[in-house]
Amino acid sequence: MEKTLGIIKPDAVAAHHSGNIIAMIEKNGFTIVRMQKMHLSKKQAEQFYAVHKERPFFGEMTSFISSGPVIVMVLEKNDAIKAWRDLMGATDPKKAAPHTIRAHYAIDIGKNAVHGSDAPETAAEEIAFFFPDLK
Ligand code: RTP
Ligand code: MG
Repeated sequence: MEKTLGIIKPDAVAAHHSGNIIAMIEKNGFTIVRMQKMHLSKKQAEQFYAVHKERPFFGEMTSFISSGPVIVMVLEKNDAIKAWRDLMGATDPKKAAPHTIRAHYAIDIGKNAVHGSDAPETAAEEIAFFFPDLK
């Protein structure tokens, strides 16, 4: 079993889509190992997204992710990292496949409803960032 980190972003939490997103996660066979609602500070957002710090939209993305509460989850399943990214859909919701979370709930490429780890190393780092006790 593999673990990955998922986040329901402030746009989707504010729009009350969390329940529907969690239902999609469970319908797709993930086990929710941890789940916590929290409001990241700008500084925590900058630490979390540090790999993106050279990107032109770093300021925008860290302001957005710290703009309101998020729901942070550790999701477990066979091949969870890829399975969760498949369920999220493409970063740009205009390009996301119809059955995906972003196709249903994302507003645009920035306010795109959910986050998912993109590789085993980043999944381990991101899980440890929020849940340092989890092994
Ligand atoms: P995430 O990290 O949030 O799961 O999204 P992702 O892997 O699909 O996309 P990534 O390339 O890692 O980008 C991280 C987040 O940056 C924002 N973004 N904005 N304005 C833009 O062109 C642009 N491109 C990316 C998105 O919110 C994306 O989720
Ligand atoms: Mg990413």
